[in-house]
Amino acid sequence: MIETKFITLKVNDEFITVSDGDRILAAINKSNKSVPTLCYDERIGPQGTCRMCLVEIKKGEKLEYVASCTYLAEEGLEVFTHSDSLIEYRKTMLELSLSEIRWDEDSMKQTELTNNEFAEAVKEYKPTDFFPKLLKREVANDPNPFIQRDYEKCIACYRCTNICNDWEQASAITVDGRGQESKIFSFFDNKLMESNCTFCGQCINTCPTGALSNKKIEKSVSKPETKTKTICPYCGVGCGIELISNGEKILGSTPDFDAPSLGSLCVKGQFASWDFVNSKERLTDPLLKNNKGEFEKVSWEKAYEVFSQKLNNSIDNHGPDSTVWWASARVVTEANYLLQKFARTVVGTNNIDNCSRT
Ligand code: SF4
Ligand code: SF4
Ligand code: FES
Repeated sequence: MIETKFITLKVNDEFITVSDGDRILAAINKSNKSVPTLCYDERIGPQGTCRMCLVEIKKGEKLEYVASCTYLAEEGLEVFTHSDSLIEYRKTMLELSLSEIRWDEDSMKQTELTNNEFAEAVKEYKPTDFFPKLLKREVANDPNPFIQRDYEKCIACYRCTNICNDWEQASAITVDGRGQESKIFSFFDNKLMESNCTFCGQCINTCPTGALSNKKIEKSVSKPETKTKTICPYCGVGCGIELISNGEKILGSTPDFDAPSLGSLCVKGQFASWDFVNSKERLTDPLLKNNKGEFEKVSWEKAYEVFSQKLNNSIDNHGPDSTVWWASARVVTEANYLLQKFARTVVGTNNIDNCSRT
């Protein structure tokens, strides 16, 4: 059996224990303080480029500056996350980033429902001394129906390309050019619909600035919106989503990163798991065909009467196996259980299936 070794270090005034092999960031995340991690997504590991997670470490009398997302935790290490020089340093780093992007009050609000790490850092470190404006990256002219690609807000953290290549393994986007000229580009004419993109949406969810956003989230930042954890109703996998609603109106969904699916979703879960609720084509009343072959609304009593007559006729004349029963991923597990129980024990057929299997 492999024994896990633990080490204890001091983060500001707190003693924190982490596993041997963890980075300093893991210890900070267990403490009362946090540091901005603009290029870090734990699903893909450290990349060490934004330098916002820089901390001071003290070994004996020696003070060093290291990126907490890359530096391994050591027994007895002393870590300082918010010294005056670190606060000033992070403020300056943000001022540099702000010199290369378009950012205003609306930008602060627009990421409230998704990943607002950049906005949170701006709120905490209050950048004020701005550098001369650099040439911004361009908004991609991409008519895809799901992802808005506004690279005027891109800080070149490359979380999107890393998550696309290393997590989703779609390799749909890459970095084109170098330095200030660099931009995120999708293969084949910079149109995602023509690339390998599966529209998993992971690039949107990892982007810290809102440069990538969900075109389908109907947003009105002036109204209070709530997020409710639930399960995507599309198939039997059961990925976690958070429904965004305003009163009774569903506005969209974002992935639930606390669910076992770790935020991964397919295109349906990401962009359409809630769409049918607001659909005008949704059936809200029982319909029965009249003599002219047209559907008309009837009462539930009438619908049950016609249904039971036809069901009994079929069973009496052709046996229970003349019927087939389809359950749905869009109803609760208990309702699915009841339907199969009814088919098997009341009707007497095993002809029962569920759209979750497809
Ligand atoms: S939606 Fe998914 S596949 Fe498409 S570019 Fe983003 S991460 Fe890559
Ligand atoms: S689009 Fe977003 S995630 Fe991608 S590099 Fe730019 S800021 Fe980072
Ligand atoms: S999060 Fe550590 S360098 Fe960016």
